[in-house]
Amino acid sequence: MASFNWNNLFIIIFSCYLTATPIFSDSNTIPNLLDLAKEPQVFDWMVDIRRKIHENPELGYEEFETSKLIRAKLDELGIPYKHPVAVTGVIGYIGTGLPPFVALRADMDALLMQESVEWEHKSKVAGKMHACGHDAHVSMLLGAAKILKYHEKDLQGTVVLVFQPAEEGGAGAKKIVDAGLLENVSAIFGLHIVPDMPLGEVASKSGPMSAGCGLFEATISGRGGHAALPQHSIDPILAASNVIVSLQHIVSREIDPLDSQVVTVGMFQGGGAFNVIPDSVTIGGTFRAFSSESFNQLKHRIEQVITGQAAVQRCNATVSFLEELKPLIPPTVNNGDLHDYFRSVAGSVIGINKVKGVEQMTGSEDFAFYQEALPGYFFLLGMEDVSVERLPGAHSPYYKVNEDALPYGAALHASLAAKYLVKLHHEVPVVEGKYYDEL
Ligand SMILES: *[C@@H]1O[C@H](CO)[C@@H](O)[C@H](O)[C@H]1NC(C)=O
Ligand SMILES: *[C@@H]1O[C@H](CO)[C@@H](O)[C@H](O)[C@H]1NC(C)=O
Ligand SMILES: [Zn+2]
Ligand SMILES: [Zn+2]
Repeated sequence: MASFNWNNLFIIIFSCYLTATPIFSDSNTIPNLLDLAKEPQVFDWMVDIRRKIHENPELGYEEFETSKLIRAKLDELGIPYKHPVAVTGVIGYIGTGLPPFVALRADMDALLMQESVEWEHKSKVAGKMHACGHDAHVSMLLGAAKILKYHEKDLQGTVVLVFQPAEEGGAGAKKIVDAGLLENVSAIFGLHIVPDMPLGEVASKSGPMSAGCGLFEATISGRGGHAALPQHSIDPILAASNVIVSLQHIVSREIDPLDSQVVTVGMFQGGGAFNVIPDSVTIGGTFRAFSSESFNQLKHRIEQVITGQAAVQRCNATVSFLEELKPLIPPTVNNGDLHDYFRSVAGSVIGINKVKGVEQMTGSEDFAFYQEALPGYFFLLGMEDVSVERLPGAHSPYYKVNEDALPYGAALHASLAAKYLVKLHHEVPVVEGKYYDEL
């Protein structure tokens, strides 16, 4: 199916009216979907999908075969979808086809690196690897789709499945949001599997969880000349060195020590000879912060400090934040109401003792783009079983997924979505702004 077919949706809506026996009508009577996700017809199916995707890793906006596989599986399940969204993205719909809507997100892209794990389903594409677990994320979301499809007639609204491209620096989430298909969605949930937490445990926090991330590049121009006659040159090497030192003073001297921020210069390119002062130097780096306000202020000061400090040394500087190439990723900030909701649902699926807190991380996650547009909640899912092996970190060439984590992801996704629709169903709609107007 090449595009969304409304006829399918109408058939689904009609069959719902004819056969509804709502076990999801009360959140207390929703069965534990984890047991279902561990059944071979779901578990083996997810493992098979994950291995197929692992063997054929595709980079951001090139996930053509991955997208095709997802669509084939949705066709198999009788789930209508829209495609293409954001180049390779697929958006599926389960339930009544009517509001309310709740979304679940999986990222599809792999990394530009060579797999070093020798196993039957090793990457078949030289120099590309699923080393962040996005293959598992896709398979978990399809697993959730399969589970939800079994219970479709009980859903009190529509679950929107978001398979997005290009999480790894390509801001695929932004393209999905810009496509406008999530405009009536009440909430969105996303997860990331992590190798350093026990299998089946989850961790998250309310408020800022991952940092906003930006890149900067600056060219500092002076006037080249003979190294023995500095008075005839304008030395960009010294100017760039002072720029770097001054950049480090932003965080240490201007920022609230309790508001974590990072500026790192990771690139310095200039000069090619021992006895020549070059014409220019190019430096580049990254910056991180946990609120949009701090992030924008930091960006502003980076530009000022580079141009100002270069001028002190009679150089000119141009600064670029490379937004065309790598869009700035905002901070990932979890909605406080969804935090309470998440803890209660995750507790009912895996036991409240497995629902942990987490410190904020200076890494970034493009799920943040959804959270700018609608209430969103992101959490980590552990997959380490130390009785079997210790797992290497994400983005390692030795990265491995413990496939026993797949049912946890599928069941959490499915439960979060199904129960959220129940919750919305029971809530009296609030007209936004109404209560403020009356104050
Ligand atoms: C959202 O709802 C409005 C009002 O019902 C409708 O006009 C619009 O098409 C909907 N958008 C999407 C993406 O479904
Ligand atoms: C800096 O730019 C000004 C204005 O364009 C120019 O006059 C000056 O020569 C430049 N300086 C250097 C070191 O490139
Ligand atoms: Zn990654
Ligand atoms: Zn990732």
